[in-house]
Amino acid sequence: MKLFMSQIEFLRHMTLFVSFIVLILLCSNTSPIFATKSCDFPAIFNFGSSNVDTGGSAAAFEALPLPYGETYFNRSTGRYSDGRIIIDFIAQSFGLPYLSPYLNSLGSNFTHGANFAIAGSTIINSDNILPERRFSPFSFIIQYKQFRDFIPNTKFIRDQGGVFATLMPKEDYFSKALYTFDIGQCDLAVGLGNNATIEQVNATVPDLVNEFIENIKNIYNLGAKAFWIHNTGPHGCLPITLTNNPSAIKDRYGCAKQFNEISQYFNLKLKEALTQLRQNLPLAAITYVDIYSAKYLLFQNPKKYGFINTGFELPFVTCCGYGGKHNWNINNKCGEFININGTKHVVSSCKNPSTRVIWDGGHYTEAANKVIFDKISTGAFTDPPIPLNMACHRKFEKTDTPRSSSDNHLEMTSFVN
Ligand SMILES: *[C@@H]1O[C@H](CO)[C@@H](O)[C@H](O)[C@H]1NC(C)=O
Ligand SMILES: *[C@@H]1O[C@H](CO)[C@@H](O)[C@H](O)[C@H]1NC(C)=O
Ligand SMILES: *[C@@H]1O[C@H](CO)[C@@H](O)[C@H](O)[C@H]1NC(C)=O
Ligand SMILES: *[C@@H]1O[C@H](CO)[C@@H](O)[C@H](O)[C@H]1NC(C)=O
Ligand SMILES: *[C@@H]1O[C@H](CO)[C@@H](O)[C@H](O)[C@H]1NC(C)=O
Repeated sequence: MKLFMSQIEFLRHMTLFVSFIVLILLCSNTSPIFATKSCDFPAIFNFGSSNVDTGGSAAAFEALPLPYGETYFNRSTGRYSDGRIIIDFIAQSFGLPYLSPYLNSLGSNFTHGANFAIAGSTIINSDNILPERRFSPFSFIIQYKQFRDFIPNTKFIRDQGGVFATLMPKEDYFSKALYTFDIGQCDLAVGLGNNATIEQVNATVPDLVNEFIENIKNIYNLGAKAFWIHNTGPHGCLPITLTNNPSAIKDRYGCAKQFNEISQYFNLKLKEALTQLRQNLPLAAITYVDIYSAKYLLFQNPKKYGFINTGFELPFVTCCGYGGKHNWNINNKCGEFININGTKHVVSSCKNPSTRVIWDGGHYTEAANKVIFDKISTGAFTDPPIPLNMACHRKFEKTDTPRSSSDNHLEMTSFVN
């Protein structure tokens, strides 16, 4: 009777044991190897429309009146809210300053990024544009071209030295930055505002998504690697939509059903296209952010996400507006002067904006933006499911093509140290 295994036998057992563990790791889809280091983004470059405009439209056209900005900045900054918007919370979460609008000629500081977003911007050029009409001429391709020109211009200014050089991002920031996107809502609104039917607008979605993807590729080709891409929000829940379409069929929470279905179709197509794009852009870490679902929660259950003893209330009633069931009227907009029974009044905000979801009929309050940011930054609403601070990590997804066994697990690699 042997009391001890021989050394040889011991080694054999250990080898088997180790092989077994390796096999488990290789075959298991449920134990991904996650990179654990959070990303150190030195800058953010943002593209989009009013949901993420930090003052671009105000610089290009005209300032928004107070009470825009009253809650946080105590002045109107050009943000479409009473305070901070989601891109502000994103910058803040990385310890970065709020983004200066690219078009702002006064006091801008681009050391940690720039914001190319302009309220009213569309993915595809529209002829329904400001100043005569409603939408912005700074469509996605124009924003891309401004960014493309921005890169060599910052180099020229850095090389010149002096005070302006201190306001430029460093050269290597362009490849290390986070690139954020929130655009598409206005394209749906342009069509609907032009009396097109729901079906007609819905039919434009594939073209919108193709153009979206073209611009992402363009920006990737300039050296961008980390992409944080918001889908479009629930259009049918906005007081503007509900006011303009009083007879629209509602879902169980009170949102206009078909209008949300167009947003959903856009989001489905965008998600599919980004899944494909991940295969085509080998260096890109592309995160699709389902901001639609995070926003929709506020209309389903406003009380649940509220603050001490209050809770959000009246999600379909505009905080800063005047008139009608949704406290919104195109002729009496937030901050405008109105005449009531011969007396001049300013359309002002509700008593407590922090309990409200919608600020001005089409945009969210700071309180709602904070809740939405808290939701989307965890990874619970993103594909792949990675949190904002890990958005530099690329996740390789399984494909249908045959792969070697070592590829048969989820893997994340990072390009930023
Ligand atoms: C906000 O701005 C108003 C007018 O510009 C000023 O009177 C007031 O003191 C400011 N409040 C704070 C808290 O800065
Ligand atoms: C620009 O921003 C950077 C980073 O926040 C800061 O260190 C620098 O002082 C700013 N420059 C000016 C002129 O304000
Ligand atoms: C849409 O139709 C309404 C009613 O027919 C009309 O008053 C309005 O001018 C039209 N709008 C556009 C942008 O064509
Ligand atoms: C939009 O088009 C898609 C594809 O044809 C269809 O599945 C969807 O039901 C349409 N949605 C609406 C609201 O018309
Ligand atoms: C304006 O006057 C009418 C008629 O006197 C009155 O019914 C209405 O309540 C007044 N509106 C406001 C906002 O005071």
